[in-house]
Amino acid sequence: MHVIDVTTTKPYQVALGTMLLERTGEIVRGVCGGTRAVIITDSNVGPLYAHIVRESLEHEGYTVSIFTFPAGEEHKCASTLIDALEFIAEAQLSRSDCVIALGGGVTGDLAGFAAATYMRGCHFVQMPTSLLAMVDSSVGGKTAIDLKAGKNLAGAFWQPDVVIADIGCLGTLEDDRVADGCGEVIKHGVIADAELFATLEQTPLTADLIRSDLALVERLIARNIEIKRDVVVADERESNLRKLLNFGHSIGHAVEACANYQLGHGTCVAIGMVAIARAAAARGVCAPDVPQRIEAVCRAHGLATRTACSVDDIFEAALHDKKRAGDAIDIVLPHRVGACSIEHVSLAAFKTLIEDGIQTGANA
Ligand SMILES: NC(=O)c1ccc[n+]([C@@H]2O[C@H](COP(=O)([O-])OP(=O)(O)OC[C@H]3O[C@@H](n4cnc5c(N)ncnc54)[C@H](O)[C@@H]3O)[C@@H](O)[C@H]2O)c1
Ligand SMILES: [Zn+2]
Repeated sequence: MHVIDVTTTKPYQVALGTMLLERTGEIVRGVCGGTRAVIITDSNVGPLYAHIVRESLEHEGYTVSIFTFPAGEEHKCASTLIDALEFIAEAQLSRSDCVIALGGGVTGDLAGFAAATYMRGCHFVQMPTSLLAMVDSSVGGKTAIDLKAGKNLAGAFWQPDVVIADIGCLGTLEDDRVADGCGEVIKHGVIADAELFATLEQTPLTADLIRSDLALVERLIARNIEIKRDVVVADERESNLRKLLNFGHSIGHAVEACANYQLGHGTCVAIGMVAIARAAAARGVCAPDVPQRIEAVCRAHGLATRTACSVDDIFEAALHDKKRAGDAIDIVLPHRVGACSIEHVSLAAFKTLIEDGIQTGANA
């Protein structure tokens, strides 16, 4: 088992390993106290794992209730949030009791926002079950729901008391969901760790690897959590650093919107990373092999790296990006694998970057 310390203002630990669902009760008892727990989960994950978590908590003396909502991003919305809050109130949780998110990033974001707002904040435990939730969304304290006007528009920062990531859960994740989570894994390599990137080149983090070498999978996920942790911890002191996590995302989010959210987030990030790396190479910011290596590793993880969306449509969609500040935007450029910088560029300059990245992509 790996135990990773997240030393934000409110410190907490990530427990990563196998057979951890069975140990939920003892781990939660150690950090939260309280007598009641509400497990929030979705209709895919709940039937697979909620009973194990419930048993473990009951064994520690907790009174447990389970709120299950229909799986899918479209349910990360205000009405599910209100239903969850009403359920938590019915279950008579007090501020010293805890809400437990058992599921992917949708569940973590929704349950975290419920925990942040119920009685102005109660204890919160993250139990990520998707690769994306383990390497990305369960660490950092961001919670949110989507509004009609856009994704993640209402939310709060609310740190968990502990994150319990049982990698045994990854065995039931669909193959394309594994690939989807790898967009962020590859991103972490490019922004912070050339060695992690090289390992992914040699041994891609695929569903096959999950079936054959959980020990390596655990090491890879641990490294990813450390990278995310390091960025969010440093960001508390030196704001801006968190923007590094947006590598590939300015173009990626725009491609996601252009494709009417029919493409996976990981695929869109892959397209965005390759495009911005190509544009960086065209300017001599990085060597030509950087975009080539990023593209090859994305493909090895089952992620598409080209888009049929036009430069104009992508630019148009990027104008709606939350990260845009007036007529400029912060973008992340790779200098080499493992080292990136944040640049504040005009929208006109950003459009040229898209042109270079996407056009070169289509012609290559
Ligand atoms: N808070 C943050 O910092 C942050 C960061 C990145 C992404 N996010 C959010 O995370 C969400 C995406 O996360 P996601 O990809 O995990 O989506 P998700 O929660 O919808 O999970 C993907 C699918 O996999 C299923 N699933 C999850 N774990 C499973 C398992 N072990 N076995 C079988 N099926 C399983 C889910 O039911 C769902 O159908 C988005 O809403 C995004 O906005 C948040
Ligand atoms: Zn992302």
